[in-house]
Amino acid sequence: MGTGVTFTDALLAEAKGSWQGWALVMFVATLALGRVFPSRAHRRLPASVWLYSVQLVLLVVTALLTALGHRAVEETRLAQHVILAMAWVGLGGALLFGVILPRTRFPVSRILQDLVVGTAAVAVIAAVLHSHGVALSGLFATSAVVTAVIGFSLQDTLGNTIGGLALQTDGSVRVGDWIKVGDVVGKVTEIRWRYTAIETRNWETVLLPNSTLMKGPVTVLGRRHGEPELWRRWVWFNVDFRYPPPDVIAAVEQALRAQPIDNVAAEPPPNCIVMDLHESYGRYAVRYWLKDLAVDDPTDSAVRTRIMFALRRAEIPLSIPAHALFVTQESEERKESKSASDRRRRLDALHRVELFAPLEDAELERLADALHPAPFTRGEVLTRQGAEAHWLYLLINGEAAVRVAKDGIDTEVARLSPGSFFGEMSLMTGEPRSATVVALCDVECFRLDAAAFRDLLERRPQLAEPIARLLAERRTNLAAITEGLDAEARRRRMESDSSLLFKKMKAFFKL
Ligand code: CMP
Repeated sequence: MGTGVTFTDALLAEAKGSWQGWALVMFVATLALGRVFPSRAHRRLPASVWLYSVQLVLLVVTALLTALGHRAVEETRLAQHVILAMAWVGLGGALLFGVILPRTRFPVSRILQDLVVGTAAVAVIAAVLHSHGVALSGLFATSAVVTAVIGFSLQDTLGNTIGGLALQTDGSVRVGDWIKVGDVVGKVTEIRWRYTAIETRNWETVLLPNSTLMKGPVTVLGRRHGEPELWRRWVWFNVDFRYPPPDVIAAVEQALRAQPIDNVAAEPPPNCIVMDLHESYGRYAVRYWLKDLAVDDPTDSAVRTRIMFALRRAEIPLSIPAHALFVTQESEERKESKSASDRRRRLDALHRVELFAPLEDAELERLADALHPAPFTRGEVLTRQGAEAHWLYLLINGEAAVRVAKDGIDTEVARLSPGSFFGEMSLMTGEPRSATVVALCDVECFRLDAAAFRDLLERRPQLAEPIARLLAERRTNLAAITEGLDAEARRRRMESDSSLLFKKMKAFFKL
């Protein structure tokens, strides 16, 4: 069946009708660019080249059918134009996302690229169909049913796809983030249409369906609003509970902060806390902030080693196994040696207090028996202004501040150092505590109850005078602050107070 049109004429007409010259130029140019920017432009090019080749074949077939006057010419031409349009769109995508946008440093996620190219393809195909007189409304009406059926069967796939799109666009999870989903912890390396790939520290790649990321909780490690990417780590250790927590904490913190450790942030600084007290040991934790989330275990190990050496230097042993059984015979001998060493410590403490210098050994020993150990940690209140008094305190180690509150203003009036005593004012006058005494560091005190103090004064009335003198001095100091006395007024107050107090005391203690 001839038409009078030669194959060559038909071929030229078809080529002209579908702008093959331009298409050829563009393909050659883009392939050349693909060589210059191989990594990015590359992705979309093979498919476009393939489509381009297919449409070339269809072009030849169309020309042949035209020459033969075959009925299927229109359909073949339509197919050729549609495929050529798709090749153009692929080409445009390669140019835009592979060559132009990377130059402008304007990053577009892979899913978004696919979405743009997909939409463009649909639009261009619709335009081609329209130009060939295909009624699109009919196509959409029939395809709505098909879409519903496909949509229903592809629910999961769609969930993943939409999940992937949402993840990409809202930036909640980004490539490079460390995330934890269920038991899996790893670094996000890729967010694809269907899944998000994360690489674990064990050199595994886990492909998490995007719908899982959308449904369940996802922990992004080390991310905190407005803060640098740091991850807080806990390193645990146990220490025999006979070692005071402040000593353990100070030794460990000092060692951790003295010299930087690789991958440990200087800010916030590592800190140590006592988390629990068990039968035979205290459970401690060091918290530090990790800079590179990939090296958690090695950094924990470096921190652990630092802790161990710091404790060794401080002669603080790590706890022995909690199941250890202490078998000690509580013999009379042992009890005696224990109480002898205890008493020695008390006597040592008393020797450090100048007030008791006039006392003889027997008196000191009696006094030592009446002492109660009273350790305080930094910041604790030893006596509180306005409270009822029960004890006299001897400060053996550490430093404390005497503070007075007046009209809502808190003022430090004195510092107490080792060898000083306090709490005498209330015990001697029967008034409430005149000031608050706060430990400025870890403080070791002994306290003497009111009855033992009275007993001491009854036996040694001559102690009353130096105590009264000191008391008057302290009261004058307090008054200077609370009443605003000048130097002369202070001197006069001091003189009158001293003798008055001495009399008051004698009466109070019936000396
Ligand atoms: P008391 O009032 O029993 O309780 C608070 C104690 O703080 C007080 O006894 C004194 O021992 C002590 N104190 C009060 N004022 C001073 C001061 N100016 N200097 C030193 N110690 C003081």
